[in-house]
Amino acid sequence: MQAEWWKEAVGYQIYVKSFFDSDNDGIGDIKGIIHKLDYLENLGVNLLWISPVFQSPMDDNGYDVSDYFKINPVYGSLSDMKELINEIKKRNMKLILDFITNHTSDEHKWFKESRRSKDNKYRDYYIWKGNKNGKKPNNWGSFFTDSCWEYNAKTDDYYMHIFSKKMPDLNWRNKEMREDLIKIAKYWLEMGIDGFRLDAINHIEKDWSFVDSTIMSDGFYKEDWTKFSDLPNVGAYLKDFRSKLTDFEDKVFIGELGGGTSMDLIQDYTSKNSGMLNMVFTFDHCFSNNVHESYKDGWNKETDIVKLKRIFLKYQEKLYQNNWNTISWMNHDHPRVVSHYGNEEYHYESATMLATILLTLHGTPFIYNGEEIGMTNNDFPSLNDYKDVSTIEKNKRLLREGVSLENVKQYAQHVSRDNSRTPFQWSNNQFAGFSEAKPWIKVNDNYQSVNVESQLKTEKSVLKYYQKLISLRIKSRYKDLMIYGECELLYPEHKSVFAFTQRLEKQSITVIANFTKEFCEVPYPDNCILLTSNYKDIKKTDKRLLLRPFEAIILHTGNLDRVAT
Ligand code: GLC
Repeated sequence: MQAEWWKEAVGYQIYVKSFFDSDNDGIGDIKGIIHKLDYLENLGVNLLWISPVFQSPMDDNGYDVSDYFKINPVYGSLSDMKELINEIKKRNMKLILDFITNHTSDEHKWFKESRRSKDNKYRDYYIWKGNKNGKKPNNWGSFFTDSCWEYNAKTDDYYMHIFSKKMPDLNWRNKEMREDLIKIAKYWLEMGIDGFRLDAINHIEKDWSFVDSTIMSDGFYKEDWTKFSDLPNVGAYLKDFRSKLTDFEDKVFIGELGGGTSMDLIQDYTSKNSGMLNMVFTFDHCFSNNVHESYKDGWNKETDIVKLKRIFLKYQEKLYQNNWNTISWMNHDHPRVVSHYGNEEYHYESATMLATILLTLHGTPFIYNGEEIGMTNNDFPSLNDYKDVSTIEKNKRLLREGVSLENVKQYAQHVSRDNSRTPFQWSNNQFAGFSEAKPWIKVNDNYQSVNVESQLKTEKSVLKYYQKLISLRIKSRYKDLMIYGECELLYPEHKSVFAFTQRLEKQSITVIANFTKEFCEVPYPDNCILLTSNYKDIKKTDKRLLLRPFEAIILHTGNLDRVAT
């Protein structure tokens, strides 16, 4: 398998607004990231992905861009950005930016022109339709709101938006628009960044017949993502996009694929000769539990571990030889993984168990900021404390449908994206050391016990465990084995244990993790050496390993004398 820098990296996602506030206005910023680069270097990560910092009215925290060439003043200036790029390079780290190409803000100059008249240069940069018998053009729902159409009085027609109504979708059928996107990409790549995470990239083509969706559902507007996900032209657009950026072959392009892309297509998008993407973020492993049912009475959380393993295995098997993949538990669109798949009562054990899987599977791991200290979901006292546009819309919808306030709160507490957007917990100072001013979103109450400062002081901490595992993955003699090994799942039907082997030539490591708080047993592999574990010892009889709650171990198995270096 061909070695590449991005295959050997450990990624780290920074949600800038909540990472570190250098100027004490309650909002994180670019200088804040610069302040914390030593921390990140020390953690061992070397590929930083930062959430959008472009000019934006912040309807969706920057995913609604009004000028791609400008930095949002709340985050800093262009010179801060250049300094960030420089400081990252000095540390031999890489930086990728979030590039939003499915839509812009409605305050982008292209859209302001587009909505002004039917005969201007930018009209066709977006997707416009007239009314249908006096109604919206069709019954398609949007990810954030009921309908994906919004009326524009000036031109008496509707524009399409698959996210919020302040985020009109771009029309990728328009060549000039695509060329303008290339100019933006080149501008940032030439400035020295190392690639992009391409936001919502599989939605860039729509079903231009615009016929009503016929899927069965109660509401008038249908959540039918097939109308704008992975349609045939997506590949062609991506190829065209990359073909204009051939001067940047060593950069990495990671596509975000929401909405259940088929494995065949993922293989197409990421195969090594595809000329499209190097790897993708997918999400079918993110909700292998029933939290989406949490607005119902009498709900109890349960994780389907067998299903979860099956999903991971599919990616491990299908993207091994000719493709590459990312590995992540969560991002800024998800609840916190310790609360979601782990267990707050077994905070250390479950956070480190999840870290063990993340950092030993095949693919480039991405840690989401705060995951390395085991940050948890927040307990927002009132629905008014939520800031996320999609949470606010969803809460409104559930209340409208008659769900009780109590249950809507429960739902938001388990599902809302704001859980992952609370201020990063640096210390037990006021506002968790994130800022001296009141942050834009409520700090999690547990910052006194869960924070970087205290975890750096303790020998046994989630943070120290992450440091150790990152180093094992990319700095130790097991590096090649851990990065390029072929994965085989063990005990696929076991309802508590997540275990697998990574094999490279005659070498292998075996990872065994108890995904539950119940004790359980599995066979103990013959002929092995313990590399690391999240308990201070292991409990075994001659042939059996007894796993305690959320215990995770990494064993060196196979030929113990020789290790790929
Ligand atoms: C992606 C982003 C998400 C954003 C959406 C629209 O899914 O991760 O945060 O709301 O795209 O840009």
